[in-house]
Amino acid sequence: MTRRRVLTVLFLGAALCVALLFAVVIRETSVGGEPNGDVPLRRLAADARIDVGTAVRGPALRDYPGYRAELAREFSTVTPENAMKWDAIEPVRGRLRWTDADALVRFARANDQLVRGHTLVWHNQLPRWLTGREWSAEALGRVLRDHIRTVMGRYRGRVAEWDVLNELTADSGKGLRTSLWSDVLGEDLAPKALRWAREADPDAELYWNEIAADGLSRKSDEFYRRVKALVADGVPLDGVGFQAHFNLDGVPKGFEANLRRFADLGLDVRITELDVALEVPADDAARKAQADIYAQVARACLRVPRCAGITVWGFTDRFSWIPASQPGAGEATLLDRGLDPKPAYRAFAEALRAGSVARSTAADATPSP
Ligand code: XIL
Repeated sequence: MTRRRVLTVLFLGAALCVALLFAVVIRETSVGGEPNGDVPLRRLAADARIDVGTAVRGPALRDYPGYRAELAREFSTVTPENAMKWDAIEPVRGRLRWTDADALVRFARANDQLVRGHTLVWHNQLPRWLTGREWSAEALGRVLRDHIRTVMGRYRGRVAEWDVLNELTADSGKGLRTSLWSDVLGEDLAPKALRWAREADPDAELYWNEIAADGLSRKSDEFYRRVKALVADGVPLDGVGFQAHFNLDGVPKGFEANLRRFADLGLDVRITELDVALEVPADDAARKAQADIYAQVARACLRVPRCAGITVWGFTDRFSWIPASQPGAGEATLLDRGLDPKPAYRAFAEALRAGSVARSTAADATPSP
């Protein structure tokens, strides 16, 4: 080998070493230390001592390619988007259909996921046999008690947590929402339903899940007042859910303070239905603003010690309730229609990762009792 050749080989070798060194340094110091998506959300969340969940759509779980794999990989909690609602379970009185609900519960068990049952007392998605007639308080109370017993009883030990009450607070912030339930059962509704739920499965965590009560507002004040009274009366209630259906108006004022005041009642709090609707088709600026909102929600939950987890209401834009319920809006979830991560996914993951450091440091510093 000529001297010149030897020098060239040495030079190339040295250049290769430097390049490798750089690659390693960049990988270790880049956001998260690994390429996006390499650490699943459920692992990041576990490190931050919270759950991360999603609503699951029955038909997608059955046969949409890639859906099951993504669901198993990313999430530690699942909520049936529709399969445990009254009209899905009992469309005809006395004829119970469990197929989709059972499939989800089986999937969750196989993939070590906690199931959030959703939902037992709600004014929507009720069967006609229930809404299409008049009821006495006694008869309706019996029907509701039986429903709670039947559904919770079936999944005893397999559904860890139930949204027993859903959206009961009036949007005006004055009293209970007008519905079949409140019209007939009045102020007994919440305490009775919660007591029946405790009887049906004493080990399940019982929640009141509420819509549009995420920030500090007249509506959340009313919600708070009612929850506080239930706790004071010794009614069984373990947690409160904040749906967090947002858009680019952003996280409502007082979001974290609101979580804290409920937590201070001795309850767990959860974000139960997070999504951030965009005008469609969305542009990059909107996607970036959306990503920031997802991250803000994660950070708020992680700063509140009793915040037990965050559930997103669907994880791919292919299966999201937004386009059908808000014409002109969509692209509200973490993954696009092809199940690829959007900026929202990366920002959310990064917020969880940052939170895991903060939360584990705080836990280490807390003296054990
Ligand atoms: C929505 C589902 O996502 C839709 O598929 C269905 O058509 C209507 O209900 N608050 C809730 C959820 O508690 O159950 C709702 O889910 C969204 C609003």
